[in-house]
Amino acid sequence: MSTKILNVGIAGLGRLGKRHAQQLARNTPGARLVAACSPVAAELDWARDELGIDRCHDSLEAMLAAPDIDAIVLVTPTTLHADQTSACLRAGKHVFVEKPLSLDVATCEAVEAVAKQHPDRVAMVGFVRRFDPSYAEAKAAIDQGALGKPFLVRSQTCDQNDESGFFVRFAESSGGIFMDCSVHDIDLARWMLGNPKATRVFASGTIAIHEGLRPFGDVDNGLAIVEFEGGQRAVFYASRTMPHGHETTTEVIGTTGTLQVGMGAHLSRVQYRDASGVGHRALPDFFARFGDAFRLEMEAFVAACRGERPSPLTLNDATEATRIGQAITQSLRTGLPVTC
Ligand code: NAI
Repeated sequence: MSTKILNVGIAGLGRLGKRHAQQLARNTPGARLVAACSPVAAELDWARDELGIDRCHDSLEAMLAAPDIDAIVLVTPTTLHADQTSACLRAGKHVFVEKPLSLDVATCEAVEAVAKQHPDRVAMVGFVRRFDPSYAEAKAAIDQGALGKPFLVRSQTCDQNDESGFFVRFAESSGGIFMDCSVHDIDLARWMLGNPKATRVFASGTIAIHEGLRPFGDVDNGLAIVEFEGGQRAVFYASRTMPHGHETTTEVIGTTGTLQVGMGAHLSRVQYRDASGVGHRALPDFFARFGDAFRLEMEAFVAACRGERPSPLTLNDATEATRIGQAITQSLRTGLPVTC
């Protein structure tokens, strides 16, 4: 275990990168954000002005060359994750990479092989939901046998409709709705069911609002069924068009009990009653839902780098999520079941 403060550099200061940067700069015990990189000058200005980071670079290579940087947090576009993760490991850095590691299974496996050559470096993928206190409680209950044998997971990631269709602009590189959104549900299902091997998937979907997705073979509402070895099953739903807010929910069904996480998209515990009925305010987006989890995730990465506890997530978790996500995407595009 190290008592040294971990020097961290961050790559990518976009929608999520800024959040991770704020977390690391202000609120992550044992770590210090010392450098940032982005090809966008305005983002580096933000890091300088908002966070007081004076080591700002326009390329990852410059951060990797700095011997005093211990760990890199990658919050860059998905298409860059795999190569950048390998580059960080080869430079002797610990690395946290946002999900998904790659849209391609062979590429994930190649990064795993690089990680195996650097066993003393932490390589962790950002499946943030595992750090949400409610999901952690559910997993602990399952491990203690509260549901008997869990055999079915029903999980959804449903975003509030964004009329600007911002995700349509990223449709070419996001990998589609299942790789972008359901990859979290896929990871949760594997985790809750004890990492069974997926054997076959079926998927379907529809475009309810965002016609701009059609040229990319993508949908704004998608459904998938995954069969696992041994009879366990998972059902996923992903949507970009919810009218009320962000609703991530998961149900786990076992032989002696069931549990549900996140039903109702509650923003708070306040309930309102008036002539129109009874209701509550809804979560607007995933930041509102998973703020605590993003903090705890970064704390877990830093603790693993400092040797305080093992990394709770491996690159193999990322590979297996991509394997299932890609099979689902292929099933959506072909209309046929796909063997994993
Ligand atoms: P974004 O497009 O807002 O940000 C990407 C950032 O990467 C920008 O700052 C851009 O300037 C920077 N960048 C581009 N090329 C670069 C390079 N060569 N080197 C360094 N920086 C570079 O994207 P967003 O929404 O922040 O997503 C980033 C990643 O995080 C994606 O892979 C996405 O899948 C993942 N993500 C994960 C979420 C989760 O729930 N865990 C939620 C949202 C995004």
